Amino acid sequence: MDYQNIPRQSLGFFPTPLVELTNLSRKLDGPRLFMKRDDNTGLALGGNKTRKLEFILGDALAQCADTIVTAGAQQSNHCRQTAAACASLGLECHLVLGGEKPGILNGNLLLDKIFGCHIHWAGENRKGEDIPEIVEQLKQEGKTPYVVPYGGSNELGALAFVKALQELEHQRQESQVSFTHIIFASSSGGTQAGLMLGKKIMGTSYQIVGVSIDKGEKDNVAFDQSILSLANRTATLIDVNHEFSDEDLILNTDYVGEGYGVIGALENEAISLTAQTEGILLDPVYTGRAMGGLIDMIRLGKFKQSDRILFWHTGGAPALFAYANTLDF
Ligand SMILES: Cc1ncc(COP(=O)(O)O)c(C=O)c1O
Repeated sequence: MDYQNIPRQSLGFFPTPLVELTNLSRKLDGPRLFMKRDDNTGLALGGNKTRKLEFILGDALAQCADTIVTAGAQQSNHCRQTAAACASLGLECHLVLGGEKPGILNGNLLLDKIFGCHIHWAGENRKGEDIPEIVEQLKQEGKTPYVVPYGGSNELGALAFVKALQELEHQRQESQVSFTHIIFASSSGGTQAGLMLGKKIMGTSYQIVGVSIDKGEKDNVAFDQSILSLANRTATLIDVNHEFSDEDLILNTDYVGEGYGVIGALENEAISLTAQTEGILLDPVYTGRAMGGLIDMIRLGKFKQSDRILFWHTGGAPALFAYANTLDF
């Protein structure tokens, strides 16, 4: 495996901390729990996209782009981190956000504005359907646009999570702990594809378990198949000879509830329990749902008491403020 020649632009502070959640584990009377704190990546209130953007914007700079275009939901953490990264690199940033402009800017959207990016409201089109038109317009204005894919989930974004797993392996060996499972929120699939490839490369034994956040499919491809395809394309990029298939993938779809961003009792309890036992903030859309799934699985007895579970905190807490009216503690 070789990715040293692939351009990368430093944007965050790594390694992120690895901590044990002793209070939460005791409260649940469950197995030992650990957390990888990617909510502390250091870029604009943190999150998993900082890792992906290091490779993706590294590529954009190598291609002499001067303008970045990406898309997401109104409260997209990916868009907020992209806007911050662009500000720090002197790149013009265009965000194509789903929905209509709200009366009050809050959460991630407020931060997008503070970072000075251009926002295009796309109504129903929250997955970047309007991007080609915007790119054409920017070219006509003499700019050199570069499109960052939805959620930062292409081969470069996934590669960042191969590197992230190597980072975790160093920490794990230093602190002499071992894990049986790594659990995290999975949405556009780059995090999961990268962790799966990292596991294959390093020959680790823990299970990589994505908790699906969104009911949807992308470009008419079922989510599980798009993760496998991305893992395979990323393997090809770095000359790893492995063909991923269904048995390599663990994607839990039990917790999508009423759909993307619809917050219920599961997310509310996970957010308050984690905050009140560990002093750690989760977000309503991703990590709250994934932690809610983990708590439920522990209560259902899906793990052995001797298991050691790592929850990969992928960030997102700025959205808490935007969801203040639907959170209920
Ligand atoms: C906070 C948070 N967690 C998890 C994810 C999911 O990561 P991925 O898109 O790589 O599946 C996202 C991305 O949208 C996110 O913003």
